[in-house]
Amino acid sequence: MNQKVILIGYMGSGKTTLGKKLSRELKVPFIDSDEQITIKFSKTISQIFTEEGEDAFRRKESDFIGTLMKESGFVLSTGGGMPCFNNNMEVLNRLGCTIYLKNTSEALADRLMISKNERPLIQGMSKEELILFIDENIQKREIYYNQAQIILNPEEQGILNVYQRIKDKL
Ligand code: S3P
Repeated sequence: MNQKVILIGYMGSGKTTLGKKLSRELKVPFIDSDEQITIKFSKTISQIFTEEGEDAFRRKESDFIGTLMKESGFVLSTGGGMPCFNNNMEVLNRLGCTIYLKNTSEALADRLMISKNERPLIQGMSKEELILFIDENIQKREIYYNQAQIILNPEEQGILNVYQRIKDKL
């Protein structure tokens, strides 16, 4: 069976945590796009942003999607911006079952406060700045996120519910 699950959503929405559980449940490898890009270029995401710029990072993300075409099954945790550049969302929707992990800006800001410094777009922001930034940014991004095949509200993001929702689609 071809089991390709693609988790999308804003930074801090829990894609990695859920993705790892789901990959164990489905018995397919877990892939994290940021981690793969970091390994391939031997640079952190922050280094890529500072040394090469965001456009270069977005190109690397699109190229990375291309490498997944030959894989037969995986759970992919995407970088938060990946679906929103080039025509990535369309490509991801053709590649597998896309799931948007929706969250409120407040919940995202809470989670991101402890890990914002690894994320170049929000480095050094206060909680208030973070909420404002997320509110504005997410509005633009939801045009893409909302094209996912499954959209999960925060209370629907438990592993058992997610498994029930996707098992007939795989
Ligand atoms: C980004 C999200 C990050 C990472 C980069 C840019 C974004 O991934 O790809 O810092 O534009 O939202 P996570 O969503 O895993 O934090």
